[in-house]
Amino acid sequence: MQTPSIQHIIFERIQQEGPISFADYMRMALYEPGYGYYVTGEAKMGWEGDYYTSTDVADFFAHCMGRQLKKMWQQSGQPAHFNVLEQGAGRGDLARQVQQWALADDSAFATALDYRSSDIKAGQDALVSMDHDFAPAVIVSNELVDAFPVHIVEKQGTTLYEVAVTIQNGRLAEILVEPDNTTLVDYLDSFKVPWRTFTDGWRAEINLDALSWMQRTCQLLLGTNARKKRHGFILAIDYGDTARQLYINDRHHGTLGCYYKHQLTERPLVRPGEQDITAHVNFTALIQAARAQGLRLHSLTTQRQWLTENGIYDELEQIHQQQFGKIDTDRASDQGQIALLQWYNLRQRVTTLTNPMGMGNFKVLIMKR
Ligand SMILES: C[S@@+](CC[C@H](N)C(=O)[O-])C[C@H]1O[C@@H](n2cnc3c(N)ncnc32)[C@H](O)[C@@H]1O
Repeated sequence: MQTPSIQHIIFERIQQEGPISFADYMRMALYEPGYGYYVTGEAKMGWEGDYYTSTDVADFFAHCMGRQLKKMWQQSGQPAHFNVLEQGAGRGDLARQVQQWALADDSAFATALDYRSSDIKAGQDALVSMDHDFAPAVIVSNELVDAFPVHIVEKQGTTLYEVAVTIQNGRLAEILVEPDNTTLVDYLDSFKVPWRTFTDGWRAEINLDALSWMQRTCQLLLGTNARKKRHGFILAIDYGDTARQLYINDRHHGTLGCYYKHQLTERPLVRPGEQDITAHVNFTALIQAARAQGLRLHSLTTQRQWLTENGIYDELEQIHQQQFGKIDTDRASDQGQIALLQWYNLRQRVTTLTNPMGMGNFKVLIMKR
């Protein structure tokens, strides 16, 4: 017997239950056991996959993360054991690069640092797993929350409809349905989004899983002993913005994007299970969810700002002085020309990480207790 495809399983579910919410569709396309984009197949990231992340661009990113973690270790009184848990770590490249940096930078910090990676690919779902044996002082994630399933809403007249997925002419298709509860309206209203004044057809994504993720992550950080809650940090990097910047009339189509072999498409219903589907993160929602668990906002900055504060340009300058002297002293020689090209390459990587129109505009959220 042939194994059914994810498309077939989605069709069957819709035939049995009727239209499903876009969030349910996205959950199946990305996470359906045995079929979903994130739980099956070869690695999707890196240059040969569907997308690349800051870690793929240059070691600089990990070095800045290392400096950030070292500051947190120092602020925590330089404990002998400093546990870091990275969620949605993919192949664990960031962990490896941070550990290498720590070894080269400071052996006391490197000895204290226990940096562990987890990923849904290895069965560790950041939305459900609770690792009681490992008490993290910092929980890190890069481009994790944008992957969680989102509800999509559309404003028409005075009503906020929800986008659902159905079958039309033998294909998956979108329809608008009236939600049977007020959760999605309440969500927008809680951030004072003036959606009722927006143009008809305005769309936005609502990531309810991000709220439960933050709640669980805070609990994982604080521990189960209510009388002796632990201290520590949650550091989440992603594309997104504050609610006020994210939910504006001008962003008429929302922020949903699909990645397939490094191409951005806006067709989430094609190739379920084969393409990445993501949406920008509402950082105000993450901050509020963490505050509800007793954490405080430490900082919310752009990746560009965060990398600058954590020494990316200092490191670049140091490399220039130490390794690229030939550019100034012997530029016309073959070696000088090679050095010049290598230097341009390195500088370009830093530009990619800090570009205000791209990764530099990612947000870095640090919550603290
Ligand atoms: C865009 S990649 C980022 C990988 C890595 N953090 C980096 O910066 O290169 C998103 C990662 O999150 C993982 N992921 C998605 N949903 C997850 C979940 N619910 N729990 C744990 N990991 C998840 C995916 O498997 C994937 O490795």
